[in-house]
Amino acid sequence: MLRYCNKQLLRKPTTFIKPVVFNFSSPYSTSIPDASESSHTGEFVNSISKPYSVTTYARPNLVLTHGKGSYIYDLENRKYVDFTSGIAVTCLGHANDEITNLIADQASKLLHCSNLYYNLPAGELANKLVTKTKEFDGMKDASRVFLCNSGTEANEAALKFARKYGKSKNPDKYEFITFENSFHGRTMGALSVTPNPKYQEPFSPLIPGVHVAKPNDIDSVKALINKDKTCAVIIEPIQGEGGVNPVDTEFLVELRKLCDDNDVLLIYDEIQCGLGRSGKLWAHSWLGPDAHPDIVTIAKALGNGFPIGATMITEKVEGALSVGDHGTTYGGNPLASTIGSFIVEKIADEAFLSQVQDKSAKFIEGLNEIAEENPEDILKVKGKGLLLGLQFRPDFDINKVVEKCREYGLLVITAGMNTIRLVPALNIPDEAITEGLSILRKSIKESK
Ligand SMILES: Cc1ncc(COP(=O)(O)O)c(C=O)c1O
Repeated sequence: MLRYCNKQLLRKPTTFIKPVVFNFSSPYSTSIPDASESSHTGEFVNSISKPYSVTTYARPNLVLTHGKGSYIYDLENRKYVDFTSGIAVTCLGHANDEITNLIADQASKLLHCSNLYYNLPAGELANKLVTKTKEFDGMKDASRVFLCNSGTEANEAALKFARKYGKSKNPDKYEFITFENSFHGRTMGALSVTPNPKYQEPFSPLIPGVHVAKPNDIDSVKALINKDKTCAVIIEPIQGEGGVNPVDTEFLVELRKLCDDNDVLLIYDEIQCGLGRSGKLWAHSWLGPDAHPDIVTIAKALGNGFPIGATMITEKVEGALSVGDHGTTYGGNPLASTIGSFIVEKIADEAFLSQVQDKSAKFIEGLNEIAEENPEDILKVKGKGLLLGLQFRPDFDINKVVEKCREYGLLVITAGMNTIRLVPALNIPDEAITEGLSILRKSIKESK
């Protein structure tokens, strides 16, 4: 029966999918609504995909089929400028030729071999993450890496390592401090330190001992931290989902000192803001060593779209861990690690990082102009590098802007605090920035 069902399902889509014709026209001057229910897209979504997929995402009628660089294409052969890069993931653009070749080459050698043995790419990636971090002003005591498969999993490892560290001092030292508006993932540990009632309440009770402080308010942390109970503080140096909010440098310096005074580990979640997105290798590379963390969590850009995560720690944390404390079947698999090594090598490069800063300046100039043209609606331009946001007044319908942009051929996403979030590929060409910003400007005007 199952075989029969699968066969039916597998056969069906081919009847819906139009052969791809490479005659992409740029629909930037005309607004074209999302594909209708009777289109190939509508039929695929309603008959093949939606009835069989869990309902955890609300999506428009848009089926993406392929991309190149900072452009992406759908089943109706429509072309979009991509300011989302798969939510800060495809840092070197879609269908990057060098990565495609690396994948093919590694796939023909070894995809997987388990963590019961060493493999070359995983060792090289761990080595590169540590050495390049030190070379590019990152975590000064970086020493070792745990490889895994996603952001939430990288945070899960960080929380477990912190608990092990705390409990090695005292059995009651297992509590965490997190921050308002932060986002750390959806598995139970990461969710427990993501204080958003919409995400947490359906799944409570969560892990015990999590306290929520206010970013940029050191007194709120002082009121919660306890030398005998707190094992770690977790924070995004630039909040992504929460609204593209960079945290103040002085606050992070004070936070580091407070953690040291209380023998508490400091975890920086750089899953979204790390790996060149801020214009330096790490968002914390902008800070002095007096604000460096004990653990950094990494994912998204590390695989350019291939699932991967990493938790980088200092020797102090390593000292609390033993064989068997944590593990994962796919972590450090040769294919993901090959891509990760290539990405680290490519991004940890002064010339590459300086062009991210140049592109950021171009974006910020355009966004400032848009904000000046809409003083009633746009409260501020915020962010750093190529993690940027336009915060609108609370009653402005930003979903309408997202929809209008899509109709004109631009993909953008939202974040907390009624913010439109822009997270393009780090190598986005200048002409794509200009095209995208002009669509954004027009779409805001038409969304009032
Ligand atoms: C800062 C941050 N931490 C953690 C995560 C979770 O990563 P993943 O979706 O790969 O589990 C995200 C995802 O958006 C993120 O932005």
